[in-house]
Amino acid sequence: MTIASLPSQGVGPEAPIDPAVLARMANALFAALPGTPPSSLPALGSAGVPAGVQAPVNIAPPGSPLVSPAGFGPSVPGTPIPQGIIPGVNLLPASPTPLASLGHRAPALLPHAQAGNGVPDTVFSALPAYEPRLGGAVLGVPEASGASAQQAATHPASGAAPFYFLSPGHGVPSAGGVGADARPSADPLDGLARAPFAAPSAPRATAPVAGTATPQTTPSTEPKFYFVDAVVLPSGYVTPAKPAPHGAVPQADAGRHPAFDVNAVRRDFPILQERVNGRQLVWFDNAATTHKPQSVIDRIAYFYEHENSNIHRAAHALAARATDAYEGARQRVQKFINAPDVDEVIFVRGTTEAINLVAKSWGGQHVGEGDEIIVSNLEHHANIVPWQQLAAAKGAKLRVIPVDDSGQVLLDEYRKLLNDRTRIVAVTQVSNALGTVVPVKEIVELAHRAGAKALVDGAQSVSHMRVDVQDIGADFFVFSGHKVFGPTGIGVVWGKREVLEDMPPWQGGGNMIADVTFEKTVFQPIPNKFEAGTGNIADAVGLGAAIDYVNRVGIENIARYEHELLVYGMERLREIPGVRLIGTAAEKASVMSFVLHGYSTEEVGKALNEEGIAVRTGHHCAQPILRRFGVETTVRPSLAFYNTFGEIDQLATVVRRLAGQRRAG
Ligand code: ALA
Repeated sequence: MTIASLPSQGVGPEAPIDPAVLARMANALFAALPGTPPSSLPALGSAGVPAGVQAPVNIAPPGSPLVSPAGFGPSVPGTPIPQGIIPGVNLLPASPTPLASLGHRAPALLPHAQAGNGVPDTVFSALPAYEPRLGGAVLGVPEASGASAQQAATHPASGAAPFYFLSPGHGVPSAGGVGADARPSADPLDGLARAPFAAPSAPRATAPVAGTATPQTTPSTEPKFYFVDAVVLPSGYVTPAKPAPHGAVPQADAGRHPAFDVNAVRRDFPILQERVNGRQLVWFDNAATTHKPQSVIDRIAYFYEHENSNIHRAAHALAARATDAYEGARQRVQKFINAPDVDEVIFVRGTTEAINLVAKSWGGQHVGEGDEIIVSNLEHHANIVPWQQLAAAKGAKLRVIPVDDSGQVLLDEYRKLLNDRTRIVAVTQVSNALGTVVPVKEIVELAHRAGAKALVDGAQSVSHMRVDVQDIGADFFVFSGHKVFGPTGIGVVWGKREVLEDMPPWQGGGNMIADVTFEKTVFQPIPNKFEAGTGNIADAVGLGAAIDYVNRVGIENIARYEHELLVYGMERLREIPGVRLIGTAAEKASVMSFVLHGYSTEEVGKALNEEGIAVRTGHHCAQPILRRFGVETTVRPSLAFYNTFGEIDQLATVVRRLAGQRRAG
């Protein structure tokens, strides 16, 4: 087969690359290379892995110009399969040794590993060695070229793969259009900040103190107008009522980003083809968990097929592969949140465990009798209960930043809560129940001025907006992998090095120790100090793949598209008689909580499920904020970037039908 006769099916800007096609192309390409005997070529299977070969595959054969140009990729003469290389293009600097990871932490504290493995410590300084090991076209994430893969890996904002972006207007039907993506016509204000969802109303006079405040049970006054101080255009969009303050969903400049092709993205998420009650699934439960692109699913399977081992120990190749993959994921997290130091990234089970770690370790050390801990009224139970437990154990007090009737925190009330007894302020960046985007940077700054530490819960923010922990300035930032298209059971605590180093371990066991005698244990430095036992290695690797995927699409593209969806969805729901929106802050992301007059939230959820539409109903693990609005439960559709305007129409149609039936009855 010549290169000219390579099949074009499934390869090109219209579709993700089929692994089998790519494998055939690779075989043909190498067969065509001068001086490459056909017998030396690996026979690539449908997954890009040679039949009968368990090791990962570099598609370049020995002697190929694609193998190890100076400084690129390991080159082992006669071995076309470098260790740990995932099928795909390998153009980035790789580990100087396949065992590079086995002792990369604190060599002085790893005498046994070092001696046992014979791996010189100096090789561990080249952390970019982890870069080439994730992602790749063969794993289902389209890549234009190795160069763009490299760009995406190292410059998240620039990782735009051509498959997702078509000419302006593609995939975005004009007004009145029918089909999955019908939405209002092109917005003349494209690129400007979108409308706020409501004007803040009068602040509550007093800040509640947990344990002493009575929850407000009277429903607050509903805003009369969904968009206040804004001009509603015929297109359905509105002018901004005020400049977006810090914390608003970042609005990408329309000119900087090609049109977002949601249909191309949707093809990467196999579960979106599921049928529920005879209808194609509509997934509006993204605040509970997000779905996984094929590249994440494949990456986890690949780990178990080719890399599975425990990490940071043993003298064998799979331990090195697994360690490289795990530490590569840590690097991806570091870049994703712009952490200054990879060692500041600690893997945990999820946001809940992350906050518990901080409360138990930092809180146990620094919070005492009479001290105060501040949270906001918006918090998920995971950012209330651990602090409450700490306060109870220490005789400290939990204080609560109130919110206005739109669901935004009242900064003036917050200022009044701060004093010299305040030890830590823990706030969410985006409310899981209301969608409010909280001005965390200001909150952190005020906490620091009062001499307190600050923790930001990013569980509901990382999938919707760019997070820069250095810009936010908090001492801790925590999030869950499964909310950002990664697996369940993996999450992150990021903390400032000096703060983490000062904290005691919260769990003891293997992996976190440097030396143990019956008299004394010497702990590893961060992050291992906080990663006792065997962690969730495969799912950390899956999280890394999820971050790669998000980077390829571009978080600014995601934020911009989702914001348009949110504005549209809120408006469609607002106009339905009997709908009361809960959470109408000017800055919102993803969440459209509501109640429907005459129906329980369960009834609405059931009716939606009958049409294949998945939403969460209930208290969303955030009872205090729902009670602030006089309700115990809401219906909570929550958006991700694979949702469409057409799906919102489907949702609104069901809710409108219910509203009409009840009125008629
Ligand atoms: N925290 C998740 C939610 O909001 C479970 O649904």
